[in-house]
Amino acid sequence: MSIQTADTSQVTAEFKRAMRRLAATVTIISTADVNGNRYGMTATAVNSLSMDPPSLLICVNHSASIHAPLIGRERFCVNVLTTEHEDLVSAFSGKLKGDARFQVGEWRNEDGGMPYLEGAQSNLFCDIVSVLPFGSHSIVIGRVTAVRVEEGIRPLIFTDGKLGATESLTGHVRISSNLSTLTQFLPADTESFLKRHPLIQVHLEERVSTAVVTAVQENACDIGFIVEGPKTNGLEVIPYREDRLVLTVPADHPLAGKTSVKFVDTLDYDYVGLHTGSQINLQIQRVAAELDRAWRCRMQVHTYDALAAMVQAGLGIGMIPCNMAQLYAKAMNIKVVEIDETWTHRRHAIVIRSYNSLQAAGRRLVDHLKRCSP
Ligand SMILES: Cc1cc2nc3c(=O)[nH]c(=O)nc-3n(C[C@H](O)[C@H](O)[C@H](O)COP(=O)(O)O)c2cc1C
Repeated sequence: MSIQTADTSQVTAEFKRAMRRLAATVTIISTADVNGNRYGMTATAVNSLSMDPPSLLICVNHSASIHAPLIGRERFCVNVLTTEHEDLVSAFSGKLKGDARFQVGEWRNEDGGMPYLEGAQSNLFCDIVSVLPFGSHSIVIGRVTAVRVEEGIRPLIFTDGKLGATESLTGHVRISSNLSTLTQFLPADTESFLKRHPLIQVHLEERVSTAVVTAVQENACDIGFIVEGPKTNGLEVIPYREDRLVLTVPADHPLAGKTSVKFVDTLDYDYVGLHTGSQINLQIQRVAAELDRAWRCRMQVHTYDALAAMVQAGLGIGMIPCNMAQLYAKAMNIKVVEIDETWTHRRHAIVIRSYNSLQAAGRRLVDHLKRCSP
């Protein structure tokens, strides 16, 4: 341990190092001028001051764009962030300017015109009673006039110059996913989650979407990923990602030269299909039946790898998500052909029994996945 007192610049440097060890909850201070122009700033220098009267203090840099309107309006709101609000931190600390900051997050106006963040841990509306300039900052004392509080306590912590301080969160999350979501989106999203929460264990099982729904309903897993289509009675459905199906064909196939085809024109050829019950198969079968045509599925496989290998060998054509098809087309002798049909655009969703039924680790994963989806 070192104790610094003499050299001011050294003390400042040590002060910064010392403060990096002080964990603080991140908030956004918001206000609006009389013309309704909104201002907001990420802040951790927020503290309760007194219970009688209920009051708090915030420290605002003189150079911050919120400083003048805040003092001028004599009113502000402290929005205490949750772990879901990481995106707001950079937006409100310089990445975005002016009113554009309020495009991030669910902002509303209270009756007096103060902007507040819906879904924050809490919103504390304050009238300014005193402003004390000190150094680069103003210490602003606010008397709390109204408060909104959300259930559940999951504050966003800032420590050592980083958001998080969540490494100690442990737990076990059981995931069940269909192949399309699993291969296209879950690797990156799970990796970024586990990097932040290395002590959480994720157990993943692949199932077709209908079986995923059943697994969630029967509590055989905590979080499910489906391609929308199956009935999801009693479950909470959260939009996650979108994709598009395309055709993969052998390089010397009659369709290989085309950029786009109608689905009906593909039905003259043999297909390599995925396993029974997969959403892709079900969709193909449904549309072929509507066209009163047979779907010539010559063989069925369980993975996109196997399907692409069969297509390359000239055993048929196959329908898979565009992201995967493009990967295989780079590495193998197959061509990608667009399918000119709206039903090939698909929505992926997260299904859970309910957010509140999840353990902390599961809730944290759902929060993370929501942030990952565009
Ligand atoms: C985690 C974090 C906490 C911050 N806390 C404060 C604070 O308490 N007071 C303050 O004046 N600035 C604080 N800042 C800096 C301001 O958010 C930032 O300088 C300000 O929004 C930029 O000013 P502008 O509005 O003029 O762009 C913090 C920034 C971050 C990332």
